[in-house]
Formats: sequence, C-alpha cells, structure tokens
Amino acid sequence: MNTMHAMQAPVHSGDRVFAFSILAGLMARRKTIDCKWLYDAEGSRLFDAITDLDDYYPTRTEFAILRDRAAELQTLAAPGCALVELGSGSSVKTRLLLNALPCVGTYVPVDISDGHLERAASRLDAEYPAVKVHPLVADFTAEFSLPASLETVPKILFFPGSTIGNFEVRAAGDLLARLRSIANVSAFVIGADLKKDAATLVRAYDDSEGVTAAFNLNLLTRINRELGADFDPGAFRHEARWNAMKSRVEMHLVSRCVQYVHLLGERIVFEEGETIHTENSHKYDLEQFEALAADAGWNTHRTWIDDAGLFCVAVLTPAAIPEANLAGGPGRRTGDVVPLID
Ligand code: SAH
Ligand code: AVI
Repeated sequence: MNTMHAMQAPVHSGDRVFAFSILAGLMARRKTIDCKWLYDAEGSRLFDAITDLDDYYPTRTEFAILRDRAAELQTLAAPGCALVELGSGSSVKTRLLLNALPCVGTYVPVDISDGHLERAASRLDAEYPAVKVHPLVADFTAEFSLPASLETVPKILFFPGSTIGNFEVRAAGDLLARLRSIANVSAFVIGADLKKDAATLVRAYDDSEGVTAAFNLNLLTRINRELGADFDPGAFRHEARWNAMKSRVEMHLVSRCVQYVHLLGERIVFEEGETIHTENSHKYDLEQFEALAADAGWNTHRTWIDDAGLFCVAVLTPAAIPEANLAGGPGRRTGDVVPLID
C-alpha cells in the first residue's frame, strides 16, 4: 500500500515573497526577474512542451544517458533508500531511476510549482505502488526541510535537467555545498549541460516553433494576473543571447518601445530596447563542473557523456568535509552548510 502525504507550501506565487522579488528586480538599474518565477501552471506546461522540441537537445540527451546507465547506480542504492529530486517537474526521468532501482522505498519530489508537482506526484504514486511518494512544495534556494522520518534513511539525490546551470556559478557552488549537509546521502546524480557552439545553444533557447518565447513572455502574464500589473506582453519580445564571457545562454524580454508599466503602486519606465533579464543557463566543461562539485564537498564517482558530447550526468559521492570548511570555519569558500533536515 503506498501513501502520499500532502506537505506544507512555504512558497506561494501570490504571496509577498513573489511581489517583493518582482518589484525589487524591476526597480533595479538592470531589470531582472528570478527564473524560478517562470514556473506557474502555464510555465510548467510550456516547459514540458520545450522538452519535446527538436531544437531543445538537453532533455532527450540526458534521458538517453540515464536510460543506458541508471542500472549502474545499483551499487550505491541501499534497500529502502529514498530518492530525493530537486526541481522534479513532471518526474519523467525519475521513472528511469525507479525502474533501474527497485530498492527505492520513498520518492521525495521537490518543486516550487505546486499544482504541477501534486499532479506529477499523483501519477507516479499510482504507477509505483511499492514506493511512498512524498511531494514537497518548496523553493530549494531557501531553507527547506526533508521529512524528519528520512533523517536516518540512506538517500540518493537527483538534480537533472541542468537546472544547476540556472544559477550563477558562485550560487551553484553554494547550493551544492548546502545539499552536501543532507545526512546519509550515498549518491548525488546531477545533470550538467556542456559547452558547445553558440548557434546550437541559441537555437535551443529560441526555438523555431516559438515555445520558448511563450515560456519567457508568460512571466508578464503571470505578473499581471497575480500582482495586478498592466504589462502588454505584445510590447516585449523574447531574446536568447550567448554570453561567451560567462559561458551562458541568457534569456531576455526586450521592450519594443518606450513604455510605462504600473505595478504595486510603482510606475516603471522601459526605454526602447531595454531588457528584463529572466534566465541564465550556464554551460560547463567537465573539468569546471568537477571542480565546482569538489569545492562544495563532492567527489566525482562517475561521469556519463553522450557520444556527441552535448550533456553530462555526474554521479557524485560525499567527500569528507575538512574542518576548516565547515560553517563559520576560516577556509570556507562556498555557502554556509545549513542543515536541511528538521
Ligand atoms: N527535472 C525536470 C524539470 C526541469 S525544469 C527535467 O529535468 O526535465 C526546472 C524545474 O525546477 C521546474 O519544475 C521548476 O518548477 C523547478 N524549480 C525551478 N526553480 C526552483 C526553485 N528555486 N525551487 C524549487 N523548484 C524550482
Ligand atoms: C530548467 N532549465 C535547466 C532549463 C534550461 O535549459 O536552462 C530551462 C529552460 N529555459 C529555456 N528553455 C529551457
């Protein structure tokens, strides 16, 4: 008999956290919106549509790697272990791990997109009766707690999609270091998109069918609906840019004209051509990614790369944390180690 527990929702799109984040980003000298706000119900639906596009190579490439290699994780999976997935979305790749690792007893999908998460978890719950599914609506960039009942349970962390690439390199290191503080982790399976030619990258983020453009512009519709703003989405256009210096694809919303937008009692002016920077998607080479992980307290146990060299799935294991690198220690180079278990 499987059980699904509804968890508390520390982040709700309509709350003050959302309002403050949007207002602060739009009032800054260089306008930005945190990419985590791309994922309301419509944003999650559009992201799923992106994953099916010919132009968007990461999903099918990572899927194929996991399909071919997931069974190799068996040696790292203890009986009754928990699979904890960050940014689980529709939990499509998860099925490859659950099929290859029948010893998994609990699945904890963590995602900010509440309704989408609940529906994905329900489907998985019905398909895998032997697995306890425990969805957790949370912002993993803030403090969040895994169920206390899992404290002593061995865990596999799963962070696919190259969502780690959506963080600035320093913030990515901080997040990896914070995840290192989760107790009893036997393996951390993480996807990272690799550097490649700019044309392939820009096409993946500005697809010929316009789905990524709709995904980006949906932010403005969301802000209108949830914060009572008066954006005209037609007065902005989507743009994907390769930033070679920072090795990342950037998504922007470019103002087509001089315009004013009203939001929460403020009037925000846009010059023609001025942009809102809405997402970064960093592309790594293997050595850089391994160094980032090592600096955050992870050893690289395996790396799996497709034949075309597009995408990497790394299997990390916890390294001993030198005392000097513990929270408050003098040698700490990334974020503080914050406990993630109640
Ligand atoms: N893992 C899936 C989905 C990746 S899309 C895949 O590989 O295809 C990124 C997912 O992370 C979305 O479902 C989004 O809602 C979630 N997400 C983005 N930022 C988040 C945050 N700060 N906290 C929790 N979930 C987040
Ligand atoms: C979730 N994340 C890894 C995706 C990416 O490729 O950066 C989000 C995305 N943005 C545009 N297309 C896909």
